This record gives sequence, C-alpha cells and structure tokens, in this order.
Amino acid sequence: MTDTLRWGILGTGGIAHSFTSDLGVIGATVQAVGSRTQESADAFAAEFGIPTAHGSYEALAADPDVDAIYVSTPHPFHAENALLALEGGKHVLVEKPFTLNANEARDVVERADAKGLVVLEAMWSRFLPHFARIRQIIADGTLGEVRALIADHDQKLPTDPKHRLQNPDLGGGALLDLGIYPVSFAWDLFDKPASIHAISTPTPTGVDQQTAIILGYETGQQALLHTALDARGPGTAVIVGTEARIEIAPTWYFPTSFEVIGPDDTVLESFDGSVEGRGMYFQAQELERLVREGHRVSPLLSPRQTIGIMETLDEIRAQIGLTYPSE
Ligand SMILES: NC(=O)c1ccc[n+]([C@@H]2O[C@H](COP(=O)([O-])OP(=O)(O)OC[C@H]3O[C@@H](n4cnc5c(N)ncnc54)[C@H](OP(=O)(O)O)[C@@H]3O)[C@@H](O)[C@H]2O)c1
Repeated sequence: MTDTLRWGILGTGGIAHSFTSDLGVIGATVQAVGSRTQESADAFAAEFGIPTAHGSYEALAADPDVDAIYVSTPHPFHAENALLALEGGKHVLVEKPFTLNANEARDVVERADAKGLVVLEAMWSRFLPHFARIRQIIADGTLGEVRALIADHDQKLPTDPKHRLQNPDLGGGALLDLGIYPVSFAWDLFDKPASIHAISTPTPTGVDQQTAIILGYETGQQALLHTALDARGPGTAVIVGTEARIEIAPTWYFPTSFEVIGPDDTVLESFDGSVEGRGMYFQAQELERLVREGHRVSPLLSPRQTIGIMETLDEIRAQIGLTYPSE
C-alpha cells in the first residue's frame, strides 16, 4: 500500500459521481472504477481521469492496485458488494443504508472483523464540521439536559414507478433512503432507543411514501422524526435542551450553519459549517485516518451503531409492514 489509499468506485450512478467529484476536491487517489458494463466504467473513468476501468465488480475487487472500495449501488446489493470487496482484501466505505437489514449488516461487520479490514457506513453527514461543533457544545453542557430532537428529511423526488426510490426490488421508499438520516442523527445524540413508534403511508408501488417516527429513551429523551419522498419539507433539525436549543438551518444533513439559542431566544452562538464541494470527502478522510492509524472503529460512527441503526429501521419496517422481495 502507498501512503494514501488508492480508491476504487463500485457502481457508476448518481452518488458515485458526487463522491468521486468530491474526492477530487481533496486530491485523493481514485485508482479504478467497476461497473456492470465496460461501457459505463469507461465513460466514468474518462469523466474523472481514473486509470483503470473494470467491466465487472469482481474485477474491481480483485484489482491489486486498489486499497479501499466505495460501494454505491442500490441498497439491496450493498451487502453482497461489500462482502465481495472484503474478499478482495479491500477496506470498504458502504453507502447508506449500510445494508437492507440488520442481519446483512452483522454479516458484513463480522467478515470485516475476520479479515482485519475497515468497514465504514457512508452516512456522510456524521462527518461534517457542523456536527463536530454540535457534539462539542453538547459535551460542554451548553444545552443543559438535552431533551429532544425534532428533524425531518422530506424531499420531492421522482414518482416514476420504475425509479429506484419507488421500486421495491431496488429497496425503494422514504425510510431507507431519507428517513435513515434523522434516525442516524437520533442515534448520534441518544444512542439506542428504548421504544419505537412508527406510522406510514405507502406509495402505489408498495414502499413507504411518508413515515413518522417517535423514538423514546430510557433517560426520558424523545426524537420526533419525519420522512417523505414526494413532498419537500423544511429540512431543519432542532435539538432541544433545558438551557438552550440548537437550530440547524436547512438542509441540516448537508454542510450548513446553526445557531445556539437561549431560553429567552437570544443567539448564544452562530456557526457556519460551509465547506468546499458537497462535503462527501470527510467520510473518506475518516476511513483513510483509521487505516493509517491502525484502527478499525470510528468514534464518529462505529459498526455497533451502524448495526443498531439497521435494527431500528428493521423495527420501524416491521411496524409499518414494509418488506422487500430480496429478504
Ligand atoms: N450519501 C448521499 O447523499 C446519497 C445520495 C443518493 C443516494 N445515496 C445512496 O447511494 C446508493 C445509490 O444511489 P444512487 O442514487 O446513486 O442510485 P443510481 O443513480 O440508480 O445508481 C446506482 C448504480 O448502482 C449500480 N447497480 C448495480 N445493480 C443495479 C441494479 N440492479 N439496478 C440499478 N443500478 C444498479 C449501477 O452502476 P453500474 O451500472 O455502473 O454497475 C447504478 O448506476 C443508494 O443506496 C442510496 O441510498 C446516497
């Protein structure tokens, strides 16, 4: 291995473009791309100046010049693609949701453990600068007792029944694509919920169109979360504490700003978290740091939390009756 990791991109869809473009912002080494078709691999490699274009995921996983693979396929394929990369001896950054369900997540984490490789969920928001500052403010006690999180991830996205988000075969629905963001944020703040309540409205294709979630915690905190895939929401998040609250500006899961506001509504702190690019390189830098320093567990998003988040999503899906054909 060279000093910096040599990345391989598995899949050439929408988010693979965003991530690879962002790797360019930090000058990371993108060594290879793998696609189901040579044509797509060639086009992607030409677009980003990537040295090697593989016409299969297997060839990418076997490429000896690649150290880490970014998995960017639809969710039902995350587990098999991550396992393929691990078999090839690569560290893996897996798009969110990490897998389709918690059983698959446990399989991937166990295999990474057995291989001594790093596996990290690409919940990119976790690694953004404004969340680092928010964690510090909470640790300092500025909010007093943190009581609640109120957050939405509601977007107006394509309603074509064949679109990935509408298609059960491709793991469609609001929850796994969008709702996972506020669920993951609640895990970041409060860890494992003691109680989960969810209601949902389905799309005509049978995935969840909008889902409302209430999480409760042993020490009394609550999280009120909403997700929708065909209606634009405010994209805000508020952390409510007894001494102050944090209002994160839209879109809270993108690089953005926030204010800390006292009980009399005075602004105690304003933070500008804008970054160059989309901010997807922070998660890549975290994986590179783990490998460089010989660690396997990120304090920002551990495999334990990744599995726990999938367990929470499994329970929400059980309550709203959402299953997928490949399960
Ligand atoms: N972090 C974020 O902000 C963010 C944003 C959007 C999506 N995502 C996540 O990223 C993943 C991919 O989303 P996307 O929007 O990039 O999807 P997309 O545009 O549809 O691309 C998915 C890619 O996966 C590959 N693929 C493998 N099997 C496939 C199949 N049976 N059908 C369709 N594509 C298949 C294809 O690449 P090849 O043809 O090259 O093999 C395709 O281009 C999802 O899990 C999603 O949750 C994350």
